[in-house]
Amino acid sequence: MKHLIIAIDGPAAAGKGTLARQLAETLELPYLDTGLLYRAVARRVLNAGGNPEIDGPEHAQQLLPEDLHRDDLRVPEVDRAASLVARDAEVRSALLERQRIFGRARGAVVDGRDIGTVVFPDAHAKFFITASPEVRAQRRYEQRHGSACADSNALAKEIAALNARDEQDASRATAPLRPAEDAVKIVTDHLDAASVLAKVCQILQERGLIRI
Ligand code: C5P
Repeated sequence: MKHLIIAIDGPAAAGKGTLARQLAETLELPYLDTGLLYRAVARRVLNAGGNPEIDGPEHAQQLLPEDLHRDDLRVPEVDRAASLVARDAEVRSALLERQRIFGRARGAVVDGRDIGTVVFPDAHAKFFITASPEVRAQRRYEQRHGSACADSNALAKEIAALNARDEQDASRATAPLRPAEDAVKIVTDHLDAASVLAKVCQILQERGLIRI
């Protein structure tokens, strides 16, 4: 099989990470979670007492493999700081080549915000995964707390945080969050992870990109 590159973009907590991981496993392709790169840069800035709006570039250039394996990258303060460092064009260009080198080595399933538009505009297939803010907030809450959210205030807070981050990601000048023109859009409000994976595999099969 050729070195397939499959781009999976979408807003926060839409289910793209789950899809990308499962798809990579199914197709025996490497998986790259590009959000982790921005999170790791943000974590470095915060730990150094820096300002995520200013100090991203130096930390993006110094990023080490072990920075990606920390267990404190998926916490709310890093959600916010990652979205701030990600606005910086210098940060984005420092991370761009790493993503391309990884993907080109053996092909990959790559998830993020600008994969189909900027990082791999020539990807073999592109998907844009989305869901309503309410559904995404509920999923994010479950991921972080291990159970469904019954507290409407906590859910409203989660929705507001997701909306703020999406707004920031979609309005930045460099590589904003948006679907590539040739991306297949999948709304996952009423789909579980297995159904999304099946749908994507069916599309790849119909296009002759995979045989299952
Ligand atoms: O996907 P995740 O929520 O881990 O991404 C964290 C942040 O990193 C996003 O809110 C976004 O600002 C940034 N990001 C990006 N481009 C990507 C992946 C993530 O700007 N390709």
